[in-house]
Parts: sequence; C-alpha cells; structure tokens
Amino acid sequence: MKPTRPLFKKPMNRRAFLKHGFRFSVLGLLAFMFTRRDNLAVETVRLNYPNLPPVFNDYRITQISDLHASFWVGEDYLMRVVERVNQLDKDLVVVTGDIITGAVNDFWKKWLPISSHDYTAMVARVLGNLKAGKKLAVLGNHDQWDGLDTEKRLVAELEKVGIQFLRNTSTPVVRGQETIHIAGIDDVWFSHDLPGSLRDIPIEQFKILLSHSPDIMTDINKKMGIDLTICGHTHGGQLAIPYLTHHFMPIDNPARYMAGLVKEDHGYTYVNRGIGTLVFPFRLGAPPEITRFRLFTAKNHPARNTTAAT
Ligand SMILES: [Fe+2]
Repeated sequence: MKPTRPLFKKPMNRRAFLKHGFRFSVLGLLAFMFTRRDNLAVETVRLNYPNLPPVFNDYRITQISDLHASFWVGEDYLMRVVERVNQLDKDLVVVTGDIITGAVNDFWKKWLPISSHDYTAMVARVLGNLKAGKKLAVLGNHDQWDGLDTEKRLVAELEKVGIQFLRNTSTPVVRGQETIHIAGIDDVWFSHDLPGSLRDIPIEQFKILLSHSPDIMTDINKKMGIDLTICGHTHGGQLAIPYLTHHFMPIDNPARYMAGLVKEDHGYTYVNRGIGTLVFPFRLGAPPEITRFRLFTAKNHPARNTTAAT
C-alpha cells in the first residue's frame, strides 16, 4: 500500500501554527470585506415637516452618492444599482458627487490603476439608464480633483443623458400654486458658494441642499432655513471599525456626520454611505447604500430610518 503523503513536510511547531493561522485569518477577513463591497442596502428615511406644502406630502427623493466609477467599481455593479433605483417609487433622483475617482496625487496615479483611466463615458452610459422625471447632481472632491478638463467633461457627458448639475445654484419644483426648491453646491474643498446656491430662493419657502461633503454644515445657520441637507463623502467610514475609523475620516466632525440622519437646529442632515469604494475594494460595517427619502407634511410621522437588503 502506498504511504499517505503528510500535509506538511515536517511537524508544525507552535510558532508556525500561529503564523499560518494569522495568514489564513487575514485572507479570510479580506475575502469577507471584498464580498461586502457590493452588498447593497436601501435605507428609507421618513421626515416630517410642518412647513412642507400639503401638495408635496409624501414627496419622494432617491439618493445615490460616491459611485467612484473606477477600476474597482465597474459597469455591471453600477448597472445593478441603477436597476434597483429604477424599481423605487420616486419624484426625484439626486447624485451627490464623487461620481468618478479622480487622481488624488502623483503617488496614486503611478501605483494604482483606479486613477489612470477615464471612466466618464462609462458612468454616463450607466446613469443614462436612470428612469426618473427629474435627475439632479452635484460634484464631489474626486470629480474636481483631476482639474477643470475632467470636471467639464463629466458635467457635459452627464447633462447629455438628462442629469442636471446644480453648481452653486438652485432649481424650483412646482406643484399647483406651491413651490419647493433644491439647491446644490460644488465641493467644499473646491469652488462651493453656499450663498450663491440659495440666492434665488425666498427665505420662507421649503428648501433642500445637495452638498457632497457634510463639512458644509459649519457654514450653515438656522436663519438660512435649510430643511434638509443631503450629503455623501464619508462612505460611512468604508471600513467602519469602532473607536478607530473616525480618527481617519476626512471631515470636520466625524462623530456627528459619519453616516445617517442628524437633527439640526433647523431641519435635518443626512449622510449617505455611498455606492463605490475608494483605494481598495473592501467594506466592513458600512454597506453601500441607496437612500429613499419620504417627506411628509403631517405632524404624526416622527423621523425614522429603515433598512432593506436588496
Ligand atoms: Fe467618495
């Protein structure tokens, strides 16, 4: 009878056992985080506003953010996101920036393929499939990082497929005799102009602000009367490790604005966890998100969040 070949050439000592165990654990964790990167969730956020005109009761907005079309975030996944958005009842779709992954600096350009390709045409092709009456977008830091040429091309390509950019301006939504307003700003690290975006809105009218980064909240005060600020940027930490991740977040107040709904002195802020990933294709404790806002006039709907897996 042929002798059985041993699994290891020599008996494993304690040190070797721990070394192999550590390697397998790291590989297992990376595989788990890789599968979490496209584990899409739909969050429903119900908000009650005494000042929302009754004709807008149950107004529905679907938000996607931080698509980061890139080497890591491909056309198939983004199409799946668009198909999911198309299944939702909505009056408006908003895209809150970081639509592509722009080059951060020469280091990333040289070493990571995410920064060396142009994904503008791909993302325009995908977002051209969005089915909604009105589609609005703002730019994020990654959309502006590559310079004016990339920024202009992105805006032009997306406007060709029916997405309107709010670049420090606003647009009215009219129903009967009533109007609400959607304002939008460029990224806070680049060319944002908050007063400019609110310029055409009567102070007493209901208003929503689209801002890629929640850092705009440091410039917003109660007197502006912004009823809802819709943001992204944080990816919910992407790898959301308690007591650790918030130390590395690129925002002023990570304890408050890492992800989800925040009640302000006037109105609310919502921070979406984003669709794509940045630098590496991993997520942990921060699943990618489509947000579905339902705005009510009635006083009997307290603000609340619900999550549905897709
Ligand atoms: Fe982002």
